[in-house]
Amino acid sequence: MGEREWAALAALAARPGARAIRTKLDADPNRAARLTRRGAGLLLDLSRTALDASALEALFDLAKATGVLASRDAMAAGRMVNDTERRSALHMALRGPKGAFKLGVEDVSAEVHATLDAMRRFATSVHCGDLRGGTGRAFTDVVNIGIGGSDLGPAMVTRALWRHGMPMRAHYLANVDAHAWEAMRPTLDPETTLVLIASKTFTTQETMANARLVQAWLGPTGAAAQIVALSTNLAATAAFGIPPARVFGFRDWVGGRFSLWSAVGLSIALACGFDRFAELLDGARAMDEHFLHAAPADNLPLLLAATEIWHVNAMGFGARAVLPYDERLARLPAHLQQLEMESLGKRVSVSGTALTHDSGPVVFGEPGTNAQHSFMQRLHQGTTPIPADFVLVARPDHDHAESHRILLANALAQVEALARGLTETEARAAMLASGMDAAETDRLAPHRTFPGDRPSVTILLPALTPYSLGALIALYEHKVMCLGAFWGINPFDQWGVELGKQLTGAILPALSGGTPARDAATAAMVAEIRRA
Ligand code: F6P
Repeated sequence: MGEREWAALAALAARPGARAIRTKLDADPNRAARLTRRGAGLLLDLSRTALDASALEALFDLAKATGVLASRDAMAAGRMVNDTERRSALHMALRGPKGAFKLGVEDVSAEVHATLDAMRRFATSVHCGDLRGGTGRAFTDVVNIGIGGSDLGPAMVTRALWRHGMPMRAHYLANVDAHAWEAMRPTLDPETTLVLIASKTFTTQETMANARLVQAWLGPTGAAAQIVALSTNLAATAAFGIPPARVFGFRDWVGGRFSLWSAVGLSIALACGFDRFAELLDGARAMDEHFLHAAPADNLPLLLAATEIWHVNAMGFGARAVLPYDERLARLPAHLQQLEMESLGKRVSVSGTALTHDSGPVVFGEPGTNAQHSFMQRLHQGTTPIPADFVLVARPDHDHAESHRILLANALAQVEALARGLTETEARAAMLASGMDAAETDRLAPHRTFPGDRPSVTILLPALTPYSLGALIALYEHKVMCLGAFWGINPFDQWGVELGKQLTGAILPALSGGTPARDAATAAMVAEIRRA
């Protein structure tokens, strides 16, 4: 779809100067104002990309031709947009007002709000000590056992919101590597620990293995009173022995990586307080409303997706860095890695034909300024550009104003250095001015030159609150949906994770001396492991 528009975009990218950023910044002092948009309390600055009016127009034409906004409306209307799993993708209903989202004739928000009410009652009774452990002691800690979407979103949010009060300590057990549990165990008391088993399917091997470890640690009294399930699979939660009153459900139209707003977010409500969780939902709802109603030229998720199309398809950049300049957002890159790469790492279209263009890029990141002392060298001087998202928070939640100024100055300096670079002439002049002799200046000039024209976008949050965080996460969720439509792929399935799961089942017996592995190289490694 949109062959003419894809070709128009390629032609624009081939123009002389199409990749230039520095000259565009110099030519137009109002570029930042012209390429900055606001929505749901967030600010998005695209001025440090090579996008210009004609590129944006071509991207909006492509969005129209590929039906991006029609796909958005189909998602919001509860249509079966996850075609290969025959499901809707109604995560907006999880934070929507009552009566706003329907699945056919069913008002799904009634069930959503009933679950939210139950979560509120549960969190309140834990916090006020009405609900206690098997031996009668009040809960101090909550352990969330889950992986992927049943871990990353809630873990990221609770880490981000610790400044807003933490009625309980939260711990996230994801990896089946029992070192994770062994490291966590000594910090916990089995009599005061509430355990949540978060699994959409309640069949995920790693989660169920960890659930059994923790169940045994709790002992019969604790296990009977202190385990809660967050799942869509009520038969499996019952088979595990969890009574229905301690199961918080959701539906299969909630994708794992979009599930932190559902019952899967119970650890957030317990760790941060239900009111903070509700504010998180409010922020996401504000972004949903912006996404559904803002004009294309002002629509943050669409603009962010269009920028990615420009970078991946028009410029050929196959990776993107996520750089939150706030330590509390340290797990944002990990959450976005799943959200974006599990959604967009696809090689066939919705109809099963091979894509003729690239799809989702590699996403990676670290908080700033740590990233500057790790991989930023590659972004500044590597052979190919890697676009970056800088996420900045204007007001900190501490009193160390100078530290915060240093942090933000570093972020702004990185954005500027990537965009403007340092020409060889500028590098030489700086070296000579520092007193370096001409021969040494000649020798070092190529190493101390920065090509510049390296794109980034900046997202500014006024402060890191539950509301602004909710809006930020929803911004990326909707960006992913838009990209799925641009590329003609299904962003809501994840068949690529299945083969490894099946092979694990086949290899497991070999590791305990049973049926040998069918692949000779695997069998050889199994033999080495067993010998060791
Ligand atoms: O890794 C695949 C995946 O299915 C993710 O999409 C999901 O978030 C994760 O596993 C966990 O699944 P579940 O919540 O069913 O345990």
